[in-house]
Amino acid sequence: MKTRITEMLGIEHPIIQGGMHFVGFAELAAAVSNAGGLGIITGLTQGTPEKLAAEIARCRTMTDKPFGVNITFLPTLTPPDYPGLFQVIIDGGVKVVETAGNNPQQWMPMLKDAGIKVIHKCTAVRHALKAQSIGCDAVSVDGFECGGHPGEDDIPNFILLPRAADELSIPFVASGGMADARSLVAALAMGAEGMNMGTRFIATKEAPVHENVKKAIVAASELDTRLVMRPLRNTERVMNNAAVERLLEKEKALGANLKFEDIIEEVAGVYPKIMMNGDMDVGAWSCGMVAGLVYDIPTVKELIDRIMSEADSIIHQRLNGLY
Ligand SMILES: Cc1cc2nc3c(=O)[nH]c(=O)nc-3n(C[C@H](O)[C@H](O)[C@H](O)COP(=O)(O)O)c2cc1C
Repeated sequence: MKTRITEMLGIEHPIIQGGMHFVGFAELAAAVSNAGGLGIITGLTQGTPEKLAAEIARCRTMTDKPFGVNITFLPTLTPPDYPGLFQVIIDGGVKVVETAGNNPQQWMPMLKDAGIKVIHKCTAVRHALKAQSIGCDAVSVDGFECGGHPGEDDIPNFILLPRAADELSIPFVASGGMADARSLVAALAMGAEGMNMGTRFIATKEAPVHENVKKAIVAASELDTRLVMRPLRNTERVMNNAAVERLLEKEKALGANLKFEDIIEEVAGVYPKIMMNGDMDVGAWSCGMVAGLVYDIPTVKELIDRIMSEADSIIHQRLNGLY
């Protein structure tokens, strides 16, 4: 399958693995790229430029295919060393950057000078248009279904994707709620040039996270995620668990008075404990509604091959057969 995204990124299949905190290590990024998609290392999980440089080098030993790095702009008082992180991405010869959280305007000249394609992930058409206007090469349009931060507009992909198609001239991929060949074909029908998956890629053999995390995703239904931090306008879709229920109780009790400090125990520093140690109830971790469509733990290659071959039969048999 050839789309504007496969052509732009030099990949075989129009499937991207979005940045994921404490999941997007070299093992997963390389597995996705080796299977013909675009794997992405999560920059902020590494924390420092030195560690990110080492992770990029490690990924190079696992694949000779293109892969990207995600840089997320966080609303924090002590920001990470963004200039240093971007510099090691450039020095490491990475050719694709996924940005998220805020637009990457400040970094565009540096990235463009280095010949890097910038895919900005955003949750609203107005943000996608802004990304286009500052020179981003593509956007990843993240609907309300998505795991992680869906923004505050709550527009699901059945509306958001065609709206993006109506407004944008740069190519975009559909993100949020994507799991299988049906997702891919539907995304293409709505004007996207491919899809970006987060949650689905966690439940794969190569994802370097504890088995408990993979099993939790397989066991979950589409009813098992919750939105947290809405009162802070930093909404995150997470898997429900004991910590999340405690957090939601605090949100209810404190109402508009809720501060980040009130929920710090449930959200700060919990990722390593969950993803590495498999301590599933220790805090809130991002997960999409799409968990309801995840039934197994295949290898990344099995997953991507299955998506592409089933997409072929949906297009050539089911859809073509309607005529
Ligand atoms: C566990 C987890 C961690 C994530 N961490 C990040 C992150 O650090 N930066 C980012 O831009 N997106 C992050 N995301 C969002 C994904 O890149 C992707 O946009 C999202 O998962 C798509 O929705 P889906 O889960 O329905 O596929 C995360 C998602 C999950 C599930």
